[in-house]
Amino acid sequence: MKILVIGGGGREHALVWKLKQSPLVEKIWCAPGNGGIAEEAECVAVDSGDVAAVVALAEKIQPNLTIVGPELPLVNGLTDAFRQRNWAIVGPSQQAAQLEGSKVFSKEFLQRHAIPTAKMYGAYASPQQAYRGLSAVKWPVVIKADGLCAGKGVFLASNAEEATDFIRRVMEKNELGPGGHRILFEETLEGEELSFIILTDGERYAPLVPTRDHKRVFDGNEGPNTGGMGAYSTDDLLPDGLRQTVISKIVEPTLHGLAADGIPYQGFLYIGLMLTKSGPKVLEFNCRLGDPETQAIVARMDFDLAEVLRDVAAGNLQPSKLRWEPGASVCVVLASGGYPGKFESGKPIDGLTAVNHITGVKAFHAGTKLVGESLVTNGGRVLGVTAVGASLPAALSAAYGGCAKIHFDGMHYRKDIGAHVTPLKAAGD
Ligand code: AMP
Ligand code: GLY
Repeated sequence: MKILVIGGGGREHALVWKLKQSPLVEKIWCAPGNGGIAEEAECVAVDSGDVAAVVALAEKIQPNLTIVGPELPLVNGLTDAFRQRNWAIVGPSQQAAQLEGSKVFSKEFLQRHAIPTAKMYGAYASPQQAYRGLSAVKWPVVIKADGLCAGKGVFLASNAEEATDFIRRVMEKNELGPGGHRILFEETLEGEELSFIILTDGERYAPLVPTRDHKRVFDGNEGPNTGGMGAYSTDDLLPDGLRQTVISKIVEPTLHGLAADGIPYQGFLYIGLMLTKSGPKVLEFNCRLGDPETQAIVARMDFDLAEVLRDVAAGNLQPSKLRWEPGASVCVVLASGGYPGKFESGKPIDGLTAVNHITGVKAFHAGTKLVGESLVTNGGRVLGVTAVGASLPAALSAAYGGCAKIHFDGMHYRKDIGAHVTPLKAAGD
């Protein structure tokens, strides 16, 4: 197989690394890739959100299979362009990607199919309507920008003053761009979050191992939200009873709902859950794999990813092929000084060779770039040190042992990935 992977973050590095282990794979390209991916695949400098440019690339290199990492190409209709040409691709259509591309679309979908989610108070396309809508909410309220906002579109407002300020910034001052031109208000949920990702060919589906992401920048869940500072996976994250509830109340109604609405969905579907006292509820859908969840998921894969994704593209997923390593996996993100705010790039990175020599540890690259022979930082999230272990403490100890060997100017990371694991017995059925 000749495979094209779209994207250039830690998620795509983990995918490329795993695909490369398949005896079926002859060649991998990655557009645009990064400094670490360049060691395992041929990187091509193409903007992953530019559908015409990716189509032109595929026309030239003729991959047998294309796998899409990020949401932007999906929301921009990349898979539709490929399917019109009969080219094999893994990822949902532009219409199906609206589950992530529009929070109002996804909330209306959840309500229509009676899938548990936070109650919506209202959706508004003008600031005046939104200010008026505040009189009907309970505090604190969650305010969501409808469109893609690079992780900045969700705000928890404790009172009318904070809410008014946020509405002014996104709807009047345009701070989040077009994604903020419509907003919705919804109930604030409490509980532990869980990322539950499934792979589907439109008919059959297979759940991936459950993961938990750590979104805040500092230890103890302090500071602003980021793209994700680390993730871990153990089967204990989702005890059997709760798993059954998630499948029967959320996953299956979602797939049936999509079919009933005439929206076939093929690819990865990320279901962000809040495990509340009254059961699991959907916080969000993403039309793709998570980052850094993917790094922790890939670390536990005990199957040929290229073969399974080829099957999905052919509409022939065989869920029993997805087998998983028992135990645990962890990914700790090493970030640039100042991230998620302003940060500098171009800092030399030391210690990577030593890390990749530790058994069970792999440093996936996110924001890195090769300048001549040397590797430098090139983004907010720079590396994801990923490890497996027989237990969560063993995986954590291996991952943090790896982090301690790496250095770049301004580097920071959370020391508490995998902590706060509370028993989930109160949630679920
Ligand atoms: P979203 O982009 O919808 O996932 O929101 C980003 C983050 O905001 C989630 O991962 C949660 O931490 C938080 N969040 C979103 N919706 C809610 C809600 N209704 N209640 C509490 N927290 C929420
Ligand atoms: N880590 C959260 C996401 O990928 O959306």
